[in-house]
Amino acid sequence: MKSCCMYLLLLGLGTGLIRSPARSQVEIPAPARARHGMVASANALASQAGVEILKRGGNAVDVAVAVGLALAVTTPEAGNIGGGGFMLIRMADGNSVALDYREAAPRKATRTLYLDRAGNVIPQASTVGHLAVGVPGTVAGFARALERYGTMRWRDVVEPARKLAEKGFPVSHALALGLRSRESLLSQFPESRRIFLKNGLHYREGEIFRQPDLARTLKRLQQKGPRDFYEGATARLLVEEMERNGGLITLEDLKAYRPVEREPVRGEYRGYKIISMPPPSSGGAVLIEMLNMLEGYDLAALGHNSSKTYHLLIEVMRRGFADRAEHFGDPAFVRVPVNALTSESYARSRAQSIDMKRATPSTEVKPGRPMRDEPPQTTHYTVVDAKGNVVSNTYTLNTAYGSGVTVRGAGFLLNNEMDDFTAKPGSPNAFGLIQGEANAIAPGKRPLSSMTPTLVLKEGKLFVALGSPGGPTIINSVMQVLLNLIDHGMTLQGAVNAPRIHHQWLPDRVRHEPYGLARDVREALEAKGHRFEAEPRWMGDVEAIMIEPGTGMRLGASDPRNPDAGVRGY
Ligand code: DON
Repeated sequence: MKSCCMYLLLLGLGTGLIRSPARSQVEIPAPARARHGMVASANALASQAGVEILKRGGNAVDVAVAVGLALAVTTPEAGNIGGGGFMLIRMADGNSVALDYREAAPRKATRTLYLDRAGNVIPQASTVGHLAVGVPGTVAGFARALERYGTMRWRDVVEPARKLAEKGFPVSHALALGLRSRESLLSQFPESRRIFLKNGLHYREGEIFRQPDLARTLKRLQQKGPRDFYEGATARLLVEEMERNGGLITLEDLKAYRPVEREPVRGEYRGYKIISMPPPSSGGAVLIEMLNMLEGYDLAALGHNSSKTYHLLIEVMRRGFADRAEHFGDPAFVRVPVNALTSESYARSRAQSIDMKRATPSTEVKPGRPMRDEPPQTTHYTVVDAKGNVVSNTYTLNTAYGSGVTVRGAGFLLNNEMDDFTAKPGSPNAFGLIQGEANAIAPGKRPLSSMTPTLVLKEGKLFVALGSPGGPTIINSVMQVLLNLIDHGMTLQGAVNAPRIHHQWLPDRVRHEPYGLARDVREALEAKGHRFEAEPRWMGDVEAIMIEPGTGMRLGASDPRNPDAGVRGY
């Protein structure tokens, strides 16, 4: 009897069925579970606002708009109405659309906008202040999503955000620290200093943060409709802000701004269908190109976190990002060979030069500013509703708190997305990216992005929806979470939690996370010729939702790298 039980126990342990006697059926780390719908976002209050919309019968698009506006209140470093982004929508009938509401260069912008007379990049010209701002797309994008794919009224989905702005919410530890860490940026602009730094007194953890100017702007948008942002009183406040301070954005720029509905970029990885963001984001195509290169290798056999797997990932990232630098830009201005880049035959030829024994040095190492050690910020959220409609949305002000400029009288921050353009070929941007001609500045053009809101299908059904902030690391964060799920069989939460690495071709350095790389693995990689950034850094904030096969339960995972993040369902 005893030996029989022992035998069963050993069998269970050996096959991984029994992970702990008390939780024999639970997959650990366990994601959140909900029957009807789920919201995973960078802020638990915003996720909860989304769940309230779900409970009132709103669909995933209604929720996505409400959550995006709520994040503009709770997460001012990245949530926004003064920025832009990308929303990937898949309706329950299987139709998908990629909504591009990326910022556009103002009409007065020129190719050499950020260069001095000698042709050198003017430090901070594209990152700080009024000249750094692209024409915001968020309000137009949300309005378009709601009108085409939502079910609720604009004013009703704006209401949770308006209330949060008017009544306020307790400042989290992370927000208090984040605001302080950007004091040198925000204090350059009196309106930003007043609102976000309390005129230098600073918000403390637990203190209530009210934003009456923003609440009034949201109320006006409720009453006058979203076009107010582009041609009404809000537009005028924005243009006055520009005129007082040498910014380029005019009323014509705002009036002309339109979001663009695009065909998503598609690929396949080990039988899973990948649906993601096309240009002007590089995210989807580079993700698919890299997955295609990896498909020829047995990653499960190479082992999770092993030096062989990391070597392969770095080599694949290096090649994917070299293509990003050369080929990508706004498709309205340059021809981006997306089909060729995402084809399996291209990936096969690209992967041929990978040597499993040695790092291939990145071909050109140009001198540049070192990567700045400041918190970059973007934010991603994912929504699945009861019908199976799904939204995966990434939007941003670019770096944390964008240009630092708050529109006087309107209470919202403006982006510094102009820095995503190539200010000068060969000179790195805020993310250290060396970019090419295809991404040069031109009036009305949209800067190249790495944002990668993504959906993965298995046998025609949603397998996972996900995305992340993190500039260029976004593409690699999304890819590694997918590999963790598909190749390594992790739970959703485990896949999100697992350590990440990053390589972006240039600079030729591997980035890794604190405690994320065993010393002997690093030594094995160095022996092959890989070089590492001096300090490890955390990467990304993946917000992901799956539908559990069999039960249809919504499984959600927020990233533990963001203490304010929250997954909520019902
Ligand atoms: O579009 C892009 O690729 C960048 N503006 C994203 C910035 C970002 O993710 C900052 N986040 N942490």
